[in-house]
Amino acid sequence: MNPKYRKTVIAGNWKMNLLPSGLKDYAGELKLRLPKDRACEVVLCVPAIMAAPLLRLLRGSRVSLGVQDVSAEASGAYTGEISAAQLRDAGVKYVIVGHSERRAYHGETDELIGRKLQRVLASGMTPILCVGETLPQRDAGAETEVVRTQLKLALAGLDAAAMRKTVVAYEPVWAIGTGRTASPAQAQEMCREIRAAIREKFDARTARAVTVQYGGSMNPSNAAELLAQPDVDGGLIGGASLDPVKFCQIVEAAKL
Ligand code: PGA
Repeated sequence: MNPKYRKTVIAGNWKMNLLPSGLKDYAGELKLRLPKDRACEVVLCVPAIMAAPLLRLLRGSRVSLGVQDVSAEASGAYTGEISAAQLRDAGVKYVIVGHSERRAYHGETDELIGRKLQRVLASGMTPILCVGETLPQRDAGAETEVVRTQLKLALAGLDAAAMRKTVVAYEPVWAIGTGRTASPAQAQEMCREIRAAIREKFDARTARAVTVQYGGSMNPSNAAELLAQPDVDGGLIGGASLDPVKFCQIVEAAKL
């Protein structure tokens, strides 16, 4: 039971890792070790090609499937893209939007991210909106302003009901894949700030209801302390989610 009155969501982000041929072993191990109680929601955001086969392998388990990106367009002549409707039809429930790697390597703007967010919501899936500052931005003391601006632009077209269906992930860029985790106090401070921004734009009830995750080098040894922070409602986990044993240990830590 989450005393925070909102869903705790532990989501893996495989990025461009693992192979379809390895899914059976991963799913077998996961099903064996996943804590049975439903204290938190468990999600795996995988490369789109692996979503449907993994969903079949995990049928009957508590794991929901997610992917890491979506087209901002509805359908049509967009070679190489995947639409929200296609993902939804394939059984996908969660979509990461605005991950810092997409912002950095694919030039995604806050405006584009906002459009993707709307597509995901309109298709009845849950977006995981990633926000977070780079190291130079933090060193300059600009982290709050950066995150608030990202939120403001990406959430521009949302009403309170849509906001309540959105998960926000605070992912400081300097902590992603670096082994350098934000301290529990740093994670708490920014997640609280994100909730304050949601309260200012929407209302207190909405702010209380939105799941705000922390992401960036979360692993079995630091997860419990991060997840115990009052405004941290889950994690977005890259590297450690590639190993089903570690991933399950983090799910376990969410109960504490
Ligand atoms: P990491 O990645 O856990 O490997 O730092 C987190 C993420 O990018 O979502």
